[in-house]
Parts: sequence; C-alpha cells; structure tokens
Amino acid sequence: MKKETKIHSPSGGTIFRFITRMYLSYALLALILVLFLHLLFTSSPETQRNYLGVQILSAFKGQAVDIEYVEQNLLHLDQTDPQLIRYTRIRHLSPPTNLPYNFGAYGVSKTEMSEWVIKFFRNMTNGRFIEAGANEGVFGSHTMWLEKEMNWTGLLVECNPKIVPHLKTHHRNAWVADVCLAPSPTPGILNFSNPTNWTYSGTMKKPWNIPVSTKWEFFEVQTIPLYTLLAALDYTSIDYFNFDVEGVELAVLKTFPFDLIIFKVIIIEIYFYTAEEKKELHELLTSNGYIFAKDISIDKIYVHNSVKHLLEQ
Ligand SMILES: *[C@@H]1O[C@H](CO)[C@@H](O)[C@H](O)[C@H]1NC(C)=O
Ligand SMILES: *[C@@H]1O[C@H](CO)[C@@H](O)[C@H](O)[C@H]1NC(C)=O
Ligand SMILES: *[C@@H]1O[C@H](CO)[C@@H](O)[C@H](O)[C@H]1NC(C)=O
Ligand SMILES: *[C@@H]1O[C@H](CO)[C@@H](O)[C@H](O)[C@H]1NC(C)=O
Repeated sequence: MKKETKIHSPSGGTIFRFITRMYLSYALLALILVLFLHLLFTSSPETQRNYLGVQILSAFKGQAVDIEYVEQNLLHLDQTDPQLIRYTRIRHLSPPTNLPYNFGAYGVSKTEMSEWVIKFFRNMTNGRFIEAGANEGVFGSHTMWLEKEMNWTGLLVECNPKIVPHLKTHHRNAWVADVCLAPSPTPGILNFSNPTNWTYSGTMKKPWNIPVSTKWEFFEVQTIPLYTLLAALDYTSIDYFNFDVEGVELAVLKTFPFDLIIFKVIIIEIYFYTAEEKKELHELLTSNGYIFAKDISIDKIYVHNSVKHLLEQ
C-alpha cells in the first residue's frame, strides 16, 4: 500500500484545526488499513492460514500468494497448485515490453518453421506462440517473424542464466520465463550443463555427440512445470508451440496434463532422440489427440485433432 507522504500546510486556519485534520487523516488511514486487512484475510480460503508479513497481494486476479509457504514447499507443490501458479507469475514471468525492438546487427528471418506455421494458419494475425528454449530471441528464433510481421505474441522460455539477459534486452513483445521446463509434475532444481562455446537452451544430460571440442560448465537452475507457466498466464489454447530444449522435451511432455491445455501445432526437435524415444514421443502425442503432420528440418510437426482440417491446403 502506498503511504501518503505529502504534508499539507495549514493554510488560513489555526494550528488546532490543522491538528484535528491530521487526526482525521490518521483515522482515515487506519480505516483503509482495516478494510485492506479484511479483504486480505477473507478474499479466498487459501489466504486464511497466512499472517501479515508473509502475505503480499499479487497483481494476478487480485488474489493473494504466500511467498514463504510456496518457497518452503516448492519441490512438493503440484503443477496445478493455485499458490504455485501465482508465485510463478510474480517470480518468473516478465511481461511483454512496449519498448522498440533492440536487435543490434541482427535481422529478422522468416524461418522454415514460421513459414510452415503461417501457411497452416492462412496468414492469421494475432496468434499465440510458446517457444522453449527461446535462446536470445532473435537469431534463429522460430517465433520472432510471426511476432514482428503478424502481430503474434505469447511466451518465451529460456533458463540459461547467461542467455536470459540478452533475450530481455531485445525487447520482444512476449512474456519471458527465466526457468527450465520441469521434467516432473512439481518444480525442481536441475544441474544444467552448458557447452561453454555454445548457447544451447537446456539439457539434463549430454545426449549428443557434438564433434567439436568445447568445455562444459554446470550450474543449478530452477525448473517449473510447463502447465504451471501456462496457467500463470491464463492460457488454455496455444496456436503454435516450438519446443527445442536439447532432448528434454519428452520428459517434460510425459507429465503434462493434455486434457487441460491444447497446442494447435507442436513443432518439436527430435535430433537427439533414439528411435525408441521417437516412438515413445509419437505414442504420447497421438494418444493425447495429436496427429503427425510432417518432418521439417530436424523437427517433427504434430497438429491437434481439432485443427487437422487445416492440413488440407
Ligand atoms: C498469405 O500471404 C502471402 C504473402 O502476402 C500471400 O502470397 C498468400 O497468398 C497469402 N495466403 C493466404 C491463404 O491468404
Ligand atoms: C496487435 O496485438 C495487440 C495485442 O498484443 C493488439 O492490442 C493490437 O490491436 C494488435 N494489432 C493489430 C493490427 O491487430
Ligand atoms: C553437475 O553435474 C556435473 C557432471 O556430472 C558434476 O561434475 C557437477 O558436480 C554437478 N553439479 C552439481 C551442483 O550437482
Ligand atoms: C571453445 O573455446 C576455446 C577457448 O576458449 C577454443 O580453444 C575452442 O576452439 C572453442 N571451441 C569451439 C567449438 O568454438
């Protein structure tokens, strides 16, 4: 709550009247405080266990989030937990910026994938995307062109702490989540491995065989389930999900509640997958309402049953 700090000078009155007015302002402030506390403790059942001091109001639907409770129980909260969802919104999501793009020397290219997507959606404007990992958001981005030319927006997920600051300085008109997608239905901490000279966006292991010498570095990163991030933005339907996190995609999707959110198009990189993992991914998606549409580059395109008619061009 903002405190009124402006001092009114006693213009044309006596000191007595000034003091009376001062007491009246204090009384008013006290009344506001009481009303505020009343709202705080009665607005939803979850707020009742909280105490003043650990309680703050989130901007999200005017509902409260108990930061201390969430942080103490972080690794045990289910992806659908309302407190976790609000906490995620406050702690890990940065809103789209209204600032002009800041790309330095980069240009925006229409990648093969944006090209396929925009054709599939018949030049639709104002669509919604998710890109994970988003990397620095411009060079090689599979959503940048859609955002800039077709006014799409959505969510960019990038957890490499060395890349996130670069992503943010580019001023994308999209939300940014600075976490890794959890390969579990609860948040977690991951030992992130990063090839020092490369800028890959996420892996749990070293699944590939890059035939170049590079040093590896390791750091711990926060993971948040994909569902929690999407629920924090109130998303229930996404037009295009570009999913490329160096091999962790299958593990992330295995605990995703497909009945709660649909992706009309999922483009998923399978470069590091064994034949068995490709089969497992295919079965997971097809048993949850998706159909295989096309191989593109080193990725596979799946579309949701509800939009499969758009495949007929
Ligand atoms: C989409 O836009 C492109 C380029 O402006 C145009 O060539 C194409 O015919 C449009 N497609 C549809 C389905 O409107
Ligand atoms: C572009 O999208 C924004 C919301 O992200 C919307 O307010 C605006 O009206 C859209 N512009 C056009 C031309 O559709
Ligand atoms: C992360 O994994 C690497 C490789 O297995 C190991 O050397 C490192 O100690 C681990 N770091 C943490 C914090 O667990
Ligand atoms: C990585 O960096 C080291 C020195 O910093 C260099 O010797 C090596 O050639 C680089 N590797 C690649 C693949 O760029």
